[in-house]
Amino acid sequence: MAFQIPRGTQDILPGEVEKWQFIEEKAKDICRRFQYREIRTPVFEHTELFLRGVGDTTDIVQKEMYTFLDRKERSLTLRPEGTASVVRSYVENKLYSDPNQPTKLFYIGPMFRYERPQQGRYRQFVQFGVEAIGSNDPAIDAEVISLAIEFYKSLGLKSLKLVINSLGDRDSRIAHRDALIRHFEPQIDEFCSDCKERLEKNPLRILDCKKDRDHELMKTAPAILQYLNDESSSYFSKVKQYLTDLGIDYVVDSGLVRGLDYYNHTAFEIMSEAKGFGSITTLCGGGRYNGLVEDIGGPDMPGIGFALSIERLLAALEAEKIQLPLEQSIDCYVVALGEQAENRAVTLLHECRKSGLAAEKDYQNRKLKGQFKAADRLHAKFVIVMGDDELQKGVANVKEMATGEQLEVSLNELVSYIQNKS
Ligand code: HAM
Repeated sequence: MAFQIPRGTQDILPGEVEKWQFIEEKAKDICRRFQYREIRTPVFEHTELFLRGVGDTTDIVQKEMYTFLDRKERSLTLRPEGTASVVRSYVENKLYSDPNQPTKLFYIGPMFRYERPQQGRYRQFVQFGVEAIGSNDPAIDAEVISLAIEFYKSLGLKSLKLVINSLGDRDSRIAHRDALIRHFEPQIDEFCSDCKERLEKNPLRILDCKKDRDHELMKTAPAILQYLNDESSSYFSKVKQYLTDLGIDYVVDSGLVRGLDYYNHTAFEIMSEAKGFGSITTLCGGGRYNGLVEDIGGPDMPGIGFALSIERLLAALEAEKIQLPLEQSIDCYVVALGEQAENRAVTLLHECRKSGLAAEKDYQNRKLKGQFKAADRLHAKFVIVMGDDELQKGVANVKEMATGEQLEVSLNELVSYIQNKS
């Protein structure tokens, strides 16, 4: 019986995994520069956390969670996103009492959503996300957005579009909610059963409905921006001003509501505009979530963050035909001929590796030509050839593959010779 990988998941094989490593290193480097520190939380949490955090009227919670009972009948869920977990950890570990505020964190890890798999949509995908908790300064909204943009640009992406909106504060949202109810209520019978439920619980979610998205009332629905009070409006203006100061282009889309319940004030998405990019163009999404820390049992601390998936980033790189500058070569390949030389090759290889060189030898009993071919396939910079004769003289023949230059080098000096040249 042959086993198959579960639907919506993927193996990342050598050859491809180097791209992931490169991207993850870039993410870590940008976080170092922007001063976000890594946090690692478990891949499963108590289900209640996501009901509370993400919101029980969202598609994620209603349709997409991998929820299971453990042996003690506790309901656990594979995390569908990172923000709720980070905030849980922030509260549980009292990170708010650290004098260094805001608390700026980042994470890279797998998330799980039971979605219909298609290009750019997986059931297990890896998010790189950041969260800045503890500041209400609009400059931090601009910082978070600029971090995402800088990250994409550092990888060479050009066809990016930043879309922003403000969902306002509590009062603005209440005013908007009432307007939405007034708008949809008279014709709610023409909407799906989910939307009927949403009208009562969370009418904003109606705007997110995939089934009813072509209904005429969707196009004429009241936009949140018309309901922002002065404070929310002024906050949004400051965020926009900072983006302009940072030279970041954006468009305002009052229809951008995001699919998770914890947002208020700034909401944003970054899309790919590359030709040939699939139908799902959102690369990154985020926003402000003042109130979430309190909902999860912590003090009243504001927060903002974003998450983006590496899968969609890779698709965008492909659409823009960007090759990542991956290191594909190794420093040296040891070719040994004869039994004694074979034995010495094992220790020589180990010496090379201990000194930090990427080194390999043959384990397939290949002939000389086959070993050179193997060295070629690995893009070895140097090939060290050692026969029993050389061994007796205490030397090896070193060939620099780029120039074809060959030199006899003493075995004692071999490692430092290659280190100096590579
Ligand atoms: P989200 O919009 O649900 O937000 O997801 C963020 C990003 O994760 C998306 O823009 C997309 O790149 C990626 N993504 C989502 N679902 C999938 C999928 N099925 N397959 C591949 N990639 C996917 C959040 O998750 C929030 N926690 C973001 C955030 C952080 N807001 C504040 N802080």
